[in-house]
Amino acid sequence: MIEAQPDAFPRRGGVEVLVAVGANLGDPAAQIDRALAALGAVPGVEVLARSPLHTTRPVGGPSQADFRNGAVKLRTTLPALALLAVFKELERQAGRDFDGVRDGPRPLDLDLLTYGDQRIDARLLSVPHPRMLDRDFVLAPLADLGVTEADLPPAAERPRVVADPEELRATCRAWVQRGGCRVGLVPTMGALHDGHASLIRRAREECDRVVVTVFVNPLQFGAGEDLERYPRPFEADLARCRAEGADLVFAPPVESMYPTGFCSTVDVGGEAEGLEGGERPGHFRGVATVVARLWSLCGPDRAYFGQKDAQQVAVLRRLHADLGLSGELVECAIVREPDGLALSSRNVYLSAEDRAAAVILFHALAAADRAWQRGVRRVADLLGVAGRIVAGEPRGRLDYLECRRAEDLAVLPDVVPDDGSAVRLLLAVRFGEPSTRLLDNAVLGRGELEGGV
Ligand code: PAF
Repeated sequence: MIEAQPDAFPRRGGVEVLVAVGANLGDPAAQIDRALAALGAVPGVEVLARSPLHTTRPVGGPSQADFRNGAVKLRTTLPALALLAVFKELERQAGRDFDGVRDGPRPLDLDLLTYGDQRIDARLLSVPHPRMLDRDFVLAPLADLGVTEADLPPAAERPRVVADPEELRATCRAWVQRGGCRVGLVPTMGALHDGHASLIRRAREECDRVVVTVFVNPLQFGAGEDLERYPRPFEADLARCRAEGADLVFAPPVESMYPTGFCSTVDVGGEAEGLEGGERPGHFRGVATVVARLWSLCGPDRAYFGQKDAQQVAVLRRLHADLGLSGELVECAIVREPDGLALSSRNVYLSAEDRAAAVILFHALAAADRAWQRGVRRVADLLGVAGRIVAGEPRGRLDYLECRRAEDLAVLPDVVPDDGSAVRLLLAVRFGEPSTRLLDNAVLGRGELEGGV
């Protein structure tokens, strides 16, 4: 039975409709000509314009022949769902097998893209078409009709939520196939805060399409860590992605990221040793594995990571260089609360008292930074200044406090050489029980902590 939505009826005089047409079985051009002639003969349908046919690569589905794709502008007095029924009938007459493989070869495809300015969200029909802005084989023929992306209404579901890795791959590939489309990737574990928002905003400024991944990656949690209680406020995350203008949110179930039989992992040496790597064995294997997988699915021009997890960034820079991953890795500055606490999804675990005490991480960095500016270059002295501040707060338990060479986190000699080496101070402190580990870091003498209290 066809369901009609009350708003899916045309206004008096009919409504303008955009349709995508395609085929890759039989004689595509002849089938499309026949279908459009039959469509124009349906009472209440007038074909106003049709584009030339483009030859395009298939998106998704099994290996198959290239498509011939076009776009058509109609005027119709038919309700949207009645028009859809006409399309289905024409597809059936062209020999389409509706029980065939998903995204498989087909003798005729008629897709309703827009129906005037109406939004329709019925079981059988979503208009504007949710994926039309992602498909070059739709946009290029529409451009022949003088319809540009800016003329099209945003699809109802923006950002589009994708759970299937292969759908992410197909979508990103289709974007890239459109010359000049830069894809930005923002990998996250969700529980998005202003720090994540700053990454998405930067990706939005620098790229044409922005993918945010929301996946709490079990591989990077050790036994006894907070995998189970890690916050997962998906609806709020989606709203945040929408507000920041993300195009696609990739939120896969664990089984599709790591299907049965998955047994490859990525081990990064060097940068992954010590610090977090020392405290959390296997953590960076999990991070590198998931990021390599996300990177290969998306093939971004730019991927964005926050410097709050400085060692993670160093590990991923190494991964990017060693595996020759596509595009560029972009490091983004830490975003802090007004009192200096670095934003983290784990801050929500803190009691009010621990939250107040947690500002010692920032104060410790700021004190070492002032010492650096006074000319202190002995590593033990820099650590002493910072360590005294942490030790003065009984609620905090220090996991590590170290000075490392900024760019690759190499261990420094006792005195920082006067060769322009940039020095990063990194620390991890635990609060409460079960404990919440907070991380922070800064490059000394670079003004990174200015503006804090
Ligand atoms: O920084 C994070 O949120 C995660 O470690 C990352 C990079 C998304 C991988 O799961």
